[in-house]
Amino acid sequence: MSPKNTDHRFPKPKHLTSHGPARVIALCNQKGGVGKTTTTINTAAALAEYGRKVLLVDFDPQGALTRGLGVDAEEGNTIYELLLDRKLRASDVIIHTDVPGLDLLPANIQLSAAEIQLVAEPGREKILSGVLRPILGEYDVVMIDCQPSLGLLTVNALTAAHGVMIPVACDYFALRGLELLIRNTVELVQERLNESLKIDGILATMYDSRTLHSRSMLHQLYEEYGDTVFRSVIKFTVKFKDSSEKGRPVTQFAPSSEAAELYRAVAREMVDRGCAP
Ligand SMILES: Nc1ncnc2c1ncn2[C@@H]1O[C@H](COP(=O)(O)OP(=O)(O)OP(=O)(O)O)[C@@H](O)[C@H]1O
Ligand SMILES: [Mg+2]
Repeated sequence: MSPKNTDHRFPKPKHLTSHGPARVIALCNQKGGVGKTTTTINTAAALAEYGRKVLLVDFDPQGALTRGLGVDAEEGNTIYELLLDRKLRASDVIIHTDVPGLDLLPANIQLSAAEIQLVAEPGREKILSGVLRPILGEYDVVMIDCQPSLGLLTVNALTAAHGVMIPVACDYFALRGLELLIRNTVELVQERLNESLKIDGILATMYDSRTLHSRSMLHQLYEEYGDTVFRSVIKFTVKFKDSSEKGRPVTQFAPSSEAAELYRAVAREMVDRGCAP
C-alpha cells in the first residue's frame, strides 16, 4: 500500500468537513519556464485528491494556468477585473473546475495592463490581499501562480501570501537566479510589507538523472539551501506537456503515472512541512 493510503491524514479525515482559513502560497520565480504553472496545477490537484479545498489564482497574463485547466477566459470576468473594480467580489469570478475541490480565479492577457494601472493606487502592493481576504474561510489552501518577473503583480502575490514556494529547474542559470529572488525580493517584502512571509521551500523540477549536469545542480541546490529544498524532486517527463495540452492536471490525465505520483509526494510533503493543512 502506498504511503498516501496508510497515513491517516491522507485523505483528509472525514470529520474535518469545514474548510479554512486558507493558507496562501505564492509560486514564484522570476526565471521563465521553470515549472511554476505545472507545479501549481498538479500540486493543487493532488491536494484536492486528498480532500483539501483549493483555490488557484492565475496571476500571469500568459494565462497558462487557466488554459492548463481547460478553462477559456476570453469572456467573463477575470482576476484583472477583480483587482480594478472594487464592487466586484471574488465569489462572482471564481470558476469551479472539472477537478472536484479545485476552483480557479482565471486570467488572460488583459492582466498585463494591471501592472501599470495599479501603480498610482494607494496601497498598491496589498490589492490582491484585499481581494482574497473575504474568501479565505472557504478554502484550505490558495495557490497563486506568478508570472516570470519581480514586478508589482509578484509583489502583490508575496504580500498576500503566508508562504512562497520556489520551483527551480535543475539547470545552471535557473540556480543562479535564486539568490536574487530570495535575497532581494523575498527579503524586501518581508522587511516592508509582510513580515510573516515564510519560504515554504525550493522544489527542484525537470530533473534528468541521466545527465551529470542535472545531478550536479541538484547536489548544489542541497548544498546551498539544505532543508529549504523539498525532498521530493520532479523528474523531466513529457507527461506534463501532454496533460496541459489536454487541459487537465496529470493526476487526472494519467492518474497512475509516475508523474502524478511525483506531485502527490509534493502535496504530502507540504502537509508534513506545515505548508498545507
Ligand atoms: N518536469 C517537467 N518535465 C518536462 N517538462 C516540463 C516539466 N515541468 C514543466 N514542463 C514543461 O515545461 C514548460 C514550462 O513549464 P511551466 O509552464 O510550468 O513553467 P513556468 O515557470 O510556469 O513558465 P513561465 O515562467 O513562462 O510562467 C511547459 O511546456 C511544461 O509543460
Ligand atoms: Mg507559468
